[in-house]
Amino acid sequence: MAYETIIVEVEDHVATIKLNRPDALNALNSHLLRELGTALAEADRNDKVRCIILTGSAKAFAAGADIKEMSEKSYVDMFLSDFFGGEGRAITSTRKPVIAAVAGYALGGGCELAMMCDFIIAADTAKFGQPEINLGVIAGLGGTQRLTRFIGKSKAMDMNLTGRFMDAEEAERSGLVSRVVPAKKLMEEARAAADKIAEKSIPSTMAAKEAVNRAYETTLSEGLLFERRLFHALFATEDQKEGMAAFMEKRTAQFRDR
Ligand code: CAA
Repeated sequence: MAYETIIVEVEDHVATIKLNRPDALNALNSHLLRELGTALAEADRNDKVRCIILTGSAKAFAAGADIKEMSEKSYVDMFLSDFFGGEGRAITSTRKPVIAAVAGYALGGGCELAMMCDFIIAADTAKFGQPEINLGVIAGLGGTQRLTRFIGKSKAMDMNLTGRFMDAEEAERSGLVSRVVPAKKLMEEARAAADKIAEKSIPSTMAAKEAVNRAYETTLSEGLLFERRLFHALFATEDQKEGMAAFMEKRTAQFRDR
């Protein structure tokens, strides 16, 4: 499918989606977020795709929601369209693993979009921030919620109240990103991580994603039960037999996603 604001490439088992509004530092407008939701759903449906990478440009992953699109809207406009509610749900309903590969600015909705992915690999040039407070509003796509769960109250308050940017090193120290790599190696490292994930059995990568995400939605005892039941359920797969047999036979598992 042809898109206007994103570029999608599927190579081997990895779909790479690149945000592509260079003149606006990849600011997220409704069109881009809808195209992104469609591309993610398409990748989810494509049997060839086993992992997805979401990335931007060297200067900006995304500099936030599109301020020019929002500036004239009224409360009623925002409320009736549930501004970015549906788009956010479409993105987070992706069932295959999604890696955010972030270089440059990930601000406002850009930081929130990165947090909607399953984990973030940051270039050493990455800058994260929730500067909405400077615009007379607050974050609207998870910047007060996901960020608080990721980095804790004190830092999340600091980011949301002062609007300051956090560099990649602080983001890693705070638990926002899983690793920091030299900017030149960002896509290579993201691709290596995606290839590693793509080697696994898809039922188990999808179950692992569901189980980790459950940790943010429920109590510890319910989450542990959910995890245990998924763990038990995977014993119904051929890939569990293959994975364990391969271990014992000291060979590489040949998973068939069955
Ligand atoms: N929306 C619309 N356009 C944006 C944009 C945004 N969020 N961020 C950058 N742009 C545009 C600029 O307007 C500019 O376009 P023009 O050349 O047509 O004027 C172009 O991108 C390049 O930007 P700058 O000239 O500003 O580049 P810079 O290098 O001087 O500064 C920056 C970079 C610090 C990221 C700066 O662009 C900036 O502060 N951007 C806004 C960041 C922001 O406030 N994000 C939060 C948005 S609100 C939100 O996200 C709500 C939510 O939670 C859902």
